[in-house]
Amino acid sequence: MVSCQRYDQGYYTAYRHLADEDLDVVFHLGDYLYEYAVNNVAGTRAYPAGTLPDLFNRETVTLEDYRLRYALYKSDPDLLAAHAAHPFVVTWDDHETENNYSGDIPENSVPPEEFLLRRAAAYRAYWENMPLRRPQLPDGPDLKLHRRLHWGRLAQFDVLDTRQYRSDQAYGDGWQYPGPESEDPSRTLTGDAQERWLINGWHRSDAVWNVVPQQVTFSQRYDTTTPPSKVSMDSWDGYPASRERVLAGAQAAGVDNLMILTGDVHVHYGFDVKRDFSDPGSRTVGTEIVTSSITSGGNGSAKPANWNTLTAANPHMRFYNGLRGYATVSLGRELARTDFKTVSHVTTQGAPLTTAASFVTEAGEPGLKPA
Ligand SMILES: [Fe+2]
Repeated sequence: MVSCQRYDQGYYTAYRHLADEDLDVVFHLGDYLYEYAVNNVAGTRAYPAGTLPDLFNRETVTLEDYRLRYALYKSDPDLLAAHAAHPFVVTWDDHETENNYSGDIPENSVPPEEFLLRRAAAYRAYWENMPLRRPQLPDGPDLKLHRRLHWGRLAQFDVLDTRQYRSDQAYGDGWQYPGPESEDPSRTLTGDAQERWLINGWHRSDAVWNVVPQQVTFSQRYDTTTPPSKVSMDSWDGYPASRERVLAGAQAAGVDNLMILTGDVHVHYGFDVKRDFSDPGSRTVGTEIVTSSITSGGNGSAKPANWNTLTAANPHMRFYNGLRGYATVSLGRELARTDFKTVSHVTTQGAPLTTAASFVTEAGEPGLKPA
């Protein structure tokens, strides 16, 4: 699983290593490209002055902009090697269109009808450049990206789209205190139709592992040990009613081995998914693996400044690492194994690969244990 590969924030060294792995499939969980302007030295890649033409030095808005941006990204030899070595199953997050948009509501105060023209261009270029099939052919600003894949009876993959149908972020987005606006039960991250599709699919599933590749962090993240804590309004924490319906749906469908695969936040996390995150004694009902970015955010660092608070405030957090990299998950009938891989830096090429930590999840017993 991979995510977040901002071209002008580093080299795709992690992809070079990924190309050498023995994998069945790569899940790309969003932010395949970034809409921001790329200057003629490609930012921290620090190419010789004037390497890139000026046409990349503007935010992507038109169909031509988005097509050119995919062309730039796909000129990278390490990304090409990863595509050549493995099939990709892709879903998008926000940056393939615009930072933190929700449905037809853009980041800034652009009228929805104008933003939908941009969304149509972004979705069209995505379909043209990603390994998608006819059912995902866009119709104007609409593209049905959520879909179900099976790996025999070992795994069912329900690939979500948590951007196209979501309610607007509460309290103006960012990290904010929860309140009546974010807790409004009518708010949704998936949209009603996708939520029903997901839960109905679980009812019919006979897979050992029910895997949900998606975008934004599902598990609760607090930034203080003394409530109330602010939460990220862009993630499932900003849509608690939506999260509760999904967890209740999984329970009603008898899902024993829920595994959520996540990107977006540019750090590795391993979480035990609690039935009720507000109660540390609550049952663990799933496992969430969050993969760090390939490059976004630059080199990163293994531990954040607020490490002690972060761990104390989130007892269900089993792992954190803020370096760049990817995670591999190996599913068996009895056991799943997760390896979090990191590279020491992305500002120059050639960093070696490290396995920062490994965990196992026993079938029938969700959550992460050290391997
Ligand atoms: Fe990102």
